[in-house]
Amino acid sequence: MNVLVTGGMGYIGSHTCVELTNIGHNPIIIDNLSNSKPEVQDKIEKITGKRPVFYEGDVADKSLLNKIFTDNKIEAVIHFAGYKAVGESVEKPLMYYRNNIGNTVALCEVMTEFNCKNIIFSSSATVYGAPKSVPINEDFELHCTNPYGRTKYMIEEILRDLYISDNTWNITLLRYFNPIGAHDSGLIGEDPQGIPNNLMPYIMKVALGELPCLNVFGNDYNTHDGTGVRDYIHVVDLAKGHIKALENLNGMSVYNLGTGTGYSVLDLVKAFEKENNIKVPYEIKGRRPGDIDSCFANPDKALKELGWKAELNVEQMCSSVWKYAQNYINKK
Ligand SMILES: NC(=O)c1ccc[n+]([C@@H]2O[C@H](COP(=O)([O-])OP(=O)(O)OC[C@H]3O[C@@H](n4cnc5c(N)ncnc54)[C@H](O)[C@@H]3O)[C@@H](O)[C@H]2O)c1
Repeated sequence: MNVLVTGGMGYIGSHTCVELTNIGHNPIIIDNLSNSKPEVQDKIEKITGKRPVFYEGDVADKSLLNKIFTDNKIEAVIHFAGYKAVGESVEKPLMYYRNNIGNTVALCEVMTEFNCKNIIFSSSATVYGAPKSVPINEDFELHCTNPYGRTKYMIEEILRDLYISDNTWNITLLRYFNPIGAHDSGLIGEDPQGIPNNLMPYIMKVALGELPCLNVFGNDYNTHDGTGVRDYIHVVDLAKGHIKALENLNGMSVYNLGTGTGYSVLDLVKAFEKENNIKVPYEIKGRRPGDIDSCFANPDKALKELGWKAELNVEQMCSSVWKYAQNYINKK
């Protein structure tokens, strides 16, 4: 199957291209490289033995999309392209609304023209806001707390409206919990620019000596050690979730992709230290506004309907990140 992967040079997209290729599909990537590097194409080729087709450009560029759909018989789209930094979205909301929402509308318009009506969309657990309880089910009320989250919520609504207008579409919304880890080869992983927004890339940079110490925001949450608890999922498991979603596209659906298990900030730090035999100094700071005690998925629906379950454990998440980080130092 020819699958258009928007944002396929990025963190989750590149791992998904590897899994697509591994089972004989052809990923066709569009990416404007705003948060990724061109060498990812070589790395995907090195891992899979097959070079993915790559178009450099913006998903909002409808003439480029037209060319891609004309050149390739695209049967389905996995739509990752978008900005994802919560803090930046608070400072630059219009940039987020334009990029995340504008590009999705352009994409769906071109898909309609080419009668390609199969799409999997990267949503996020952030759409649940502060959930009333955990684990979180897909039918929980949605309320977002920042512009990034609202772009995800609004895109979900746009895609629901599209389905209501034409139920020959197959649309799957995947709500990711906290993807971490890297490919076993150590060739691809998360490569954040500047100060990372997420915990694992921060730990990685502290372990590499690029940042002096990890700031742990709050140790008075209602959790077993006082630090925030999240559902960390290995990016390779997440990528495989997209394959299952692709195989099961059927009308309008929404799934949580998480492990169902919560780990605290300090659990993750300790697991990283133990697995990689390296110290990660940290300091406790005050809570960050908007952070919540615990957030983890009920992943049963994905198991029941897609036959998908996360298989990799937190030790594998930590060791793969360190392997990737060391490749990354060797390259510098
Ligand atoms: N990583 C997470 O923690 C997480 C959690 C939940 C949801 N998501 C969502 O999953 C998707 C992928 O996330 P990721 O972590 O791989 O991010 P990423 O930044 O590594 O990948 C996104 C890719 O999209 C590209 N891109 C951005 N805007 C574009 C545009 N207009 N046209 C073409 N390319 C564009 C970037 O260059 C990048 O390569 C995003 O939509 C993100 O919001 C990520």
